[in-house]
This record gives sequence, structure tokens and C-alpha cells, in this order.
Amino acid sequence: RIAGPSGLVIFGVTGDLSRKKLMPAVYDLANRGLLPPGFSLVGFARRDWENEDFAQVVHDAVKEHSRTPFREEVWQQLQEGFRFVQGDFDDDAAFEQLRQTVEDLNKKRGTGGNFAFYLSVPPKFFPKVVEQLKEHNLSSDPAGEGWRRAVIEKPFGHDLESAQELNSIVHKVFAPHEVFRIDHYLGKETVQNILALRFANTMFEPLWNRSYVDHVQITMAEDIGIGGRAGYYDGIGAARDVIQNHLLQLLALTAMEEPASFDANSLVREKIKVLQSVQLPEDLGKHTVFGQYAAGWQGGEQVAGYLQEDGIDPNSRTDTYAAIRLNVDNRRWAGVPFYLRTGKRLGRRVTEIAVVFQRAPHLPFDTTDTQELGQNALVIRVQPDEGVTVRFGSKVPGTSMEVRDVTMDFAYGESFTESSPEAYERLILDVLLGDANLFPRTQEVELSWKILDPIEEHWATGPKPEAYTSGTWGPKAADEMLARDGRVWRRP
Ligand code: BG6
Repeated sequence: RIAGPSGLVIFGVTGDLSRKKLMPAVYDLANRGLLPPGFSLVGFARRDWENEDFAQVVHDAVKEHSRTPFREEVWQQLQEGFRFVQGDFDDDAAFEQLRQTVEDLNKKRGTGGNFAFYLSVPPKFFPKVVEQLKEHNLSSDPAGEGWRRAVIEKPFGHDLESAQELNSIVHKVFAPHEVFRIDHYLGKETVQNILALRFANTMFEPLWNRSYVDHVQITMAEDIGIGGRAGYYDGIGAARDVIQNHLLQLLALTAMEEPASFDANSLVREKIKVLQSVQLPEDLGKHTVFGQYAAGWQGGEQVAGYLQEDGIDPNSRTDTYAAIRLNVDNRRWAGVPFYLRTGKRLGRRVTEIAVVFQRAPHLPFDTTDTQELGQNALVIRVQPDEGVTVRFGSKVPGTSMEVRDVTMDFAYGESFTESSPEAYERLILDVLLGDANLFPRTQEVELSWKILDPIEEHWATGPKPEAYTSGTWGPKAADEMLARDGRVWRRP
């Protein structure tokens, strides 16, 4: 899978995402030989840069963040295709210059009219940028030969209504198959492996249902705070930032039926069925929790609370922690709760999906010896220690019949010599190839907001988010929420 003649235009190229993820991903793709020789990268931003300044910034970003070793010959060839266009999003002259740049690259570097436009900008700018692309004849190839695609970063709106509005604006200019919405979790190797684990094997699927599964816990914990992202984060919060997209996608992949094939349409169809089956619990007060980190210690350092972070409204009600219980009301999952939680400044950085099985109906030995026995579990370790763990009971060596939990592990690092590409590498390559498998569709995005909106509305009225000390595992109310269901959160 090598991309054909093509180029990428990044709007918001001076931003963090571009420097930390997009630029290194482009270089890594080139380094792995997956980009065409004439590949071109155009940066668009307000900064007063020349092409050389842009190249220098990409160079520094690559040196700092790329996964693969720096090779001068790869870099030299890649940077010949770098161009920078300076301007505002409402600056017609700048878009005219962008159009000329694209035409020029088509002639000089053989990009064949094929360009993807990556909108790494806040959602409020989407309409303007998309409109300008149309206005300046960039949204389709004037020669009628090449393809044009729009790549759109999250968050896609902040509720169902705004997402629908954005969708209608984008679809006025780009056809559905030309729109690639980024959810970088789908680009992660371990997330793609959920489907391999489930559907390439025989031993898991027979148990993967309400007859054997007690509940599912999906955790995305981060140790970092909001860093320099106050402007983006405040008013958005943890649930909109990652539950609406990453965690609901993980839920969909965990709960979905086997697709008829692995083409994008079949996959999406099954994910959509899951999202349509999701039901919120009636009492949102009891089955959802939101919290905000307070000062504490993390990694041996004292860290500030959310309300003391630079740029945060001291009365902010924004959630930095969210836990919710969802039900998937279909034949496979009826009665099996899916608990989703995420938070900043938690105990450690870890994302995992734990499928927790029911207890054995009967233990045919003296149970006083088996107190440490938990429930069987299959844990997909999404990151950072990528792999899969199976937990089950085993006899403790000795003369009595003591049974204790043990684990069986699969670790990527031990089983594979191949290294995992970074999520953005995979996704950018897929955009250039026109492969939409790993990109959420309009309907998925809208269904996800439909699930989240009532929860956000519930949190917006009533008590403030509960404070939790940085470096701990979140608000007490989250533990109580599970305790009421007779369950406990895992401590990964
Ligand atoms: C992003 C969120 O989508 O994912 C961030 O906006 C979060 O708040 C990030 O930190 C986490 O990504 P990863 O790949 O490090 O788990």
C-alpha cells in the first residue's frame, strides 16, 4: 500500500497537532517508502514565513517527534515539495495563491491534481475554510483528473445540532466519500486489533455476550493536565473531548456484530447498529459522574488544580473526569452495562478495554481458600503497554486447594519485531489512498452526540463537578456509582 501521486495541504500548520503529529507522520511515511517521489506538503497559516522557514519548522518537528531514524536523503527529497502560503482564512488573495501553488506542484512535481486538505483548525473555522476551497476552485480538480479530499479534525461540533450544521456545510462542498473525519484512536494498531482478536479467532466470540459477560469497562486515563490547551478545553471537557469520539468508537468495536466484509460500508453499518442500540440509564444522577482535578502530586511534582490553570475561568464547571454507564439494548448485550471513564491527572496514563466475565456459578472446593479469586477478565491493553491480558483463577502450588488470580499476557513488544506505525501515519496514508475504513461517518458522529447530549445537559444544571486530587483515580462518586451496581473499577 503505497500512496499514488498526491499532496497534502495543512491548515493550522503552526499548531501543536501539526508539529507533534502531522509533520512527523509525513516524514515517517516518506522514510518507510510509502509516499510517492513527488509528494508535496503545503502549509497554510498566518505566520510571516517563507518556504525555508516552514521547512525548518518541519525539520525541527521531525527531529523531535518522528518515530523512524532521520535520513538526510529522505529529508532532502521530501523537502523539495514543501511550500508555505501565508494568510487568514478570509483572505481571498491567500487562497488564490494556494490555488496557484497547487497548480504549480501539479506541473512541477507530478501530483496529478490529487490533494487532501487537512483542517487542523478549531471547528468555528471549518465553514470558512471549506467555503474558500470551493470559492477558489480548490475543492475539485479543475482539470477533472485528480481527487480532492477534506480531512477534518475533532471535535466535530459540540453537540448534535452543531455537528449537523457542520455536516451540512461540509457536504455542500465535498461529497461524503471525500470527507475524512479524524478519530486518531481508530488509527492505533491495538484498536484495529480488536476486530482481529474477535473475528480471526474462535475462542473468544462464543463468550462475547450476555450469557458470559458481566460488564465491560473502557478506561482512558491520562496523567497530564490540560497543558497549554485552556482555550480549547474549557467549556468542552472530558466527555466531549474523548467520550463522544474515542471511547464510543471503542465501545462500538467491542460490541458490534461481525461485518459482512472489511470494506468501509460494512464496518460502518455494524458500528452504527451498536450506537443506535445504546440506551442511557434513566437516572443520570446515579449512573454518571463528572469531576474536576484539584491540586496534588504527580510524578514527584506538585501540580496545580484545574481552576488554577492559566486561562481557566475560576468558576468553570468543565469536567476533566467523566464516567458514564451505558446499556447496549440488543440480543447480545441486554443487561450488560458498559462503563466508560476518562480523566486528566489520574494515577497513570493507560487506555484499556476490560471485558469482565461472570463468576463461576459454583465452586466445588472450600471457598475459604479462594478469597482472592476475582472475575475472569480479558483486557485489551490499548496503550501504553500494548497487548492483551487474560485473567483467570489458578491453583496455588501446595497441599490445599487454594485458587488465586493469575494472568496470561500477550505483549506486542515480545511477539512482533515489526514496530507499530503512529496512528496519524496510518490515517494520513489512508486518506491519500482513499481508504475510509478507519474514519467515522456522518451518522456515527451524530449518533455519538445524541448519546452524549442528555448527559451534558444533566451536568449543566445541578451541582458542580466533584473535585478529585491530582494523581488519584478520580472522584469518590465514581466509585460509589459502581459500588451501587455491586462492581468496582479496575486499577490498571
Ligand atoms: C485527544 C484529546 O483526542 O486525545 C486529548 O483531545 C488527549 O485531550 C489525547 O490528551 C490523547 O491521545 P493519546 O493518543 O495520547 O491517547
